[in-house]
Amino acid sequence: MDKLVIEGGVSLNGRIAVSGSKNAALPLLFASILLEEPATFTNVPNLRDIHTALKLLRILGCPAEYESGVVHMRPCGPKPEAPYELVKTMRASVLCLGPLLARIGQARVALPGGCAIGARPVDQHLKGMEKMGARFNLEDGYILGRCDKLAGAHISFDMPTVGGTENLLMAAVLADGETVLENAAREPEITDLAEFLIACGARIEGHGSSIIRVQGVSRLGGCTYAVMPDRIEAGTFLVAAGITNGNLLVQHCPWQELEAVIVKLQAMGMHIEKTPEGVLARRSGDTLRGVDVQTRPYPGFPTDMQAQLMALMCLAEGSSVVEEGIFENRFMHVPELTRMGADIKPAGRSAMVRGVRGLNGAPVMASDLRASASLVLAGLAAKGTTHVQRIYHLDRGYEAIENKLNAVGARIRREKE
Ligand code: EPZ
Repeated sequence: MDKLVIEGGVSLNGRIAVSGSKNAALPLLFASILLEEPATFTNVPNLRDIHTALKLLRILGCPAEYESGVVHMRPCGPKPEAPYELVKTMRASVLCLGPLLARIGQARVALPGGCAIGARPVDQHLKGMEKMGARFNLEDGYILGRCDKLAGAHISFDMPTVGGTENLLMAAVLADGETVLENAAREPEITDLAEFLIACGARIEGHGSSIIRVQGVSRLGGCTYAVMPDRIEAGTFLVAAGITNGNLLVQHCPWQELEAVIVKLQAMGMHIEKTPEGVLARRSGDTLRGVDVQTRPYPGFPTDMQAQLMALMCLAEGSSVVEEGIFENRFMHVPELTRMGADIKPAGRSAMVRGVRGLNGAPVMASDLRASASLVLAGLAAKGTTHVQRIYHLDRGYEAIENKLNAVGARIRREKE
């Protein structure tokens, strides 16, 4: 296992580029199960989760090749089984369920278990597909799904679910008739998926709003499609500028999609400015101020930026209150930040952060992807050396993170634990 060793206390300055979005690329790759012609994806990040998805697609009978950010998919003769060995390492594997049922009328997909950030059930995915005519059984830890041709239906989600909306959207594009998805999630990654499906011949309206209408078509072709930039990686870099008192030009930074994050960073005392070359980020003055944040579905503040913002709050004057509104257990970074000298009091789904004058390097353990990013940010600002262990979590979602940060002045090396 690898760890990152960070010599902290250096300001980051210069240009840093954002990669393609992991959470947009994963549903796009699974959507290729639906296609009858080849598709090419560009701007695909070189990440562990992407390679897991490609491995699963090959097992499902979809030939997939990755080379330098480009994925070539050929039309597949899908096989219906997604084995536990892969699903357990990446929950997003469940996104093959909708496409498999739509394309071949059967699927055997391991039921994803809980994970570090919560129970994360998939009941909304299954209920929606049942309304479209699918039948499910749970056997030996696998979801067994069958259907004749899926039929359009009116589906109202109990809560906006990103994966649920994506799975149902992919199921609906080849269904008979109209499907209406109500209380749909509005995340930009869903819009990216819808735009790709439309480019392949699907008929979709309303994506980006909470009501999506899909008219089923009989077949989908292929196309070449560029994955959107990663708004969470971009947000992480904006925080890196603030926490190290540096000055970064974040290239390919999706401004509009990051609005909720930018507003909070500005309220904390950061200067964030859109320029033709990218987004400039630095502190406005010497110090940062505390701010209160609630995570919510898009366009609210993203849960995937909560841990990183909390690292910044640790060094802001005054107090901040964080309320995690999406996942029930997403404060695993709190005890680790505390080991570095932070003053944080969690209480249920909230945490009170009181700013401290400085953090100290320490050995810390990453528990999930965004918690890892938060510890790296804290390590960049801390006095002394921080060892971030179990960084395989980080490698799932941040492409070449230590190379990118070192190029703007960080001192990070990767070592064996
Ligand atoms: C996606 O997960 C992202 N993953 C997550 O990214 C992100 O944190 C999350 O959306 C919220 O924005 C990918 O895009 C691959 P949800 P997803 O369904 O789709 C509950 C990262 O760090 N729920 O929107 O699994 C669920 O438990 C991550 O990159 C049900 O109860 O999230 C949660 O409380 C991790 N039943 C809430 O809804 C369901 O059937 C939102 O989950 C589905 C969800």
